[in-house]
Amino acid sequence: MSKRKLVTSALPYANGPIHLGHLAGAYLPADLYTRFQRLKGEDIIHICGSDEHGVPITIAAEKEGVTPQEIVDRYHERNKAVFDKFGIDFDYYGRTSSETHRKTSQDFFLKLYEQGVFKKKSQEQFYDEDANMFLPDRYVKGTCPKCGHPEAYGDQCEKCGSSLSPTDLIDPVSALTGNKPVVKSTEHWFIPLGDFQDRLQEWIDSRENWKPNVVGQCKSWLDGGLSDRAVTRDLTWGVPVPLPEGDGKVLYVWFDAPIGYISATKEWADEKGDPDLWKTYWQDEETSLVHFIGKDNIVFHCIMFPAMLMQQGDFILPENVKANEFLNLEGRKLSTSKGW
Ligand code: 2FM
Ligand code: ZN
Repeated sequence: MSKRKLVTSALPYANGPIHLGHLAGAYLPADLYTRFQRLKGEDIIHICGSDEHGVPITIAAEKEGVTPQEIVDRYHERNKAVFDKFGIDFDYYGRTSSETHRKTSQDFFLKLYEQGVFKKKSQEQFYDEDANMFLPDRYVKGTCPKCGHPEAYGDQCEKCGSSLSPTDLIDPVSALTGNKPVVKSTEHWFIPLGDFQDRLQEWIDSRENWKPNVVGQCKSWLDGGLSDRAVTRDLTWGVPVPLPEGDGKVLYVWFDAPIGYISATKEWADEKGDPDLWKTYWQDEETSLVHFIGKDNIVFHCIMFPAMLMQQGDFILPENVKANEFLNLEGRKLSTSKGW
């Protein structure tokens, strides 16, 4: 039996209004779980916040012709208020643009960097010659090579759940201009997930009461063999890479966003006037950490973030990752970025 529980629900991108799909997928189940445990007398906190980095934010800003800052300021406040009206009872609702978060994620990156974990590699990446920029992640759209879904993103196919690189897509186009992108070389830092394969396998095998959809996705990832994954991007919006040679690059949003759970817990502790209290929830083995997410986030919470945590060494790993299916409308996933 754990002494206390730390519940997180996926930090929604502050790129548009949250919808019923969000509520059904992560927040309502997390809220029910937290309330039930609290009624039973458990020591439990529920942490969430806005994910304010990454391509979903910059694409929303470009669509509206405003700055990314305007987008995140607007939707952070709106979404926070909507959660509140809906009665979702977070102990803290943070945001990844905060100073605490910048420092926490840069320190995390630096610790791994100093441990010599990252591989620095040159990578062929799509580039939009009209927009004059590299096209990471969702800046490229195309057909999924695994299932043929015609609207897959450069980082992921939401239909079959495959995690992708932009260059995997069939008939790729720039999400900015619709152009066919050219290929250019750029340097990035990679986490060698393959080095964590055995430890992750052992850890997942030792988990109890995981949902079959979560175990199934992990198994298919592990069976396919894990490979190096870039943790930096050529973008100006995000947490700057804290290295002199990282100028003009930021941390990959899926590197900094889950660290947002830790930074938000730090801010919660500060607000309570007990600045070290976050450590009890993140560093004491007697805390049970439970993540609530949508199914498109499984790989990041069950493979990538646990590998980062294993390597960093100061934090506990999740006891469970509760991932739910999508809420569909007329057969299609409710989606902020697709406006559905
Ligand atoms: O899929 C999403 O909406 C992401 N913003 C979830 C991030 S969860 C966590 F890692 F912060
Ligand atoms: Zn697919």
